[in-house]
Amino acid sequence: MIHEPMPFFAFMDQALYGENGYYMTDRPRFGRSGDFYTSVQVSALYGALWGHVALMDSADQDTVSVVELGCGDGGLAAAMLPAMLLSPRLRGRKIEYAGVDLSPVALQRATLRVGTALEGLSGRETVSTVFARTPAALVESTGDRFLGAWVFGNEVLDAIPCDVVRVDRSGLWRLWVAPAKEVPPDAQPGVLAGGARRSYFLAQDRDQAWARELWTHWAPLLDEFAVDEVVGEWSVGMSQWVAGMLVDLRPRTVNFVDYGGLLRDVVGPDRPRGSVRGYRRHELVDNILDTTPDCDITYDVNFEPVQRLLGAHGLRASALQRQGAFLLGLPDVLTVLQTFEQQYPGGVRAASSLFMPGGGLGDRFVVCRAE
Ligand SMILES: C[S@@+](CC[C@H](N)C(=O)[O-])C[C@H]1O[C@@H](n2cnc3c(N)ncnc32)[C@H](O)[C@@H]1O
Repeated sequence: MIHEPMPFFAFMDQALYGENGYYMTDRPRFGRSGDFYTSVQVSALYGALWGHVALMDSADQDTVSVVELGCGDGGLAAAMLPAMLLSPRLRGRKIEYAGVDLSPVALQRATLRVGTALEGLSGRETVSTVFARTPAALVESTGDRFLGAWVFGNEVLDAIPCDVVRVDRSGLWRLWVAPAKEVPPDAQPGVLAGGARRSYFLAQDRDQAWARELWTHWAPLLDEFAVDEVVGEWSVGMSQWVAGMLVDLRPRTVNFVDYGGLLRDVVGPDRPRGSVRGYRRHELVDNILDTTPDCDITYDVNFEPVQRLLGAHGLRASALQRQGAFLLGLPDVLTVLQTFEQQYPGGVRAASSLFMPGGGLGDRFVVCRAE
């Protein structure tokens, strides 16, 4: 139970990753029996297509080294690795796969699921797999094997705790959460509905580095949109985690897929309450403050700080692309689709929401890529 007033990011951290947190229990989370679908559960074609990207990006490597961040229950790897084994682009090379996830339950499930998916496959002996809770732990257990790897993360950034902030003409405000009776009387009402717990804004000084950075990028939005305030999410944890990963793994290619976009896609007058939301059993949850850790909490990712970090670590970030356009625009994509259709007749059509615009996953998700 959470009793103390705490910034929203600490609340989200406890709700998702604390003792009995949403991602730490053996609850089914993904797919029909869980709370939400990611592209991974929509179709094994998603893993096959990203395996294709990994092989193309690693064409000059003797071993194809893949690190998946936030691998969850291993659904992507269970589809991607068998598809890579079938691909002529593998050319008999070895594959080294590492799944990284903060949740020990997820790692257990992923180990089992990936092992089962590879069982009995021709070429299985050329694939090695390893699982770790953090990039640093991966390096500690594998030495330099995954340095310079091809790195991928589907819907991992949106699961990293964030703050909710408001910028207005008087300054910067940060969202706090407390039991209703502990809310300071002079606090300003927050953007998340309250029952037993309430959210409220407290003024935040701008001395700290994160607050200065946020102010630099967000304050101009007030005049640009001609509004008195903007509200949205800011994740110091995401930036620290991405920066740590870049130092630990020194990846050659990084791919993040998530909902979100550039700052002006995720913060603006059309989103007066920001984008934090909760899902349970495929429904939006009304009041996430009182229902955690029984629901997933997530938000739209602002990729701009991520792109700045990638650039600062010597990687060249491409412009963000919609998932559908990115996947369908891949070189040789028809060959991948044909191979998949031969294996799973009707499978490409069944996977069409991965590519569909207009509310489909093809439009809602964006690919942030740097090499
Ligand atoms: C929304 S799920 C996505 C799982 C999987 N990638 C998929 O698409 O089905 C987010 C996953 O990221 C993991 N995660 C969150 N923060 C993480 C972190 N800092 N490091 C590693 N894994 C993290 C969670 O435990 C969870 O399994």
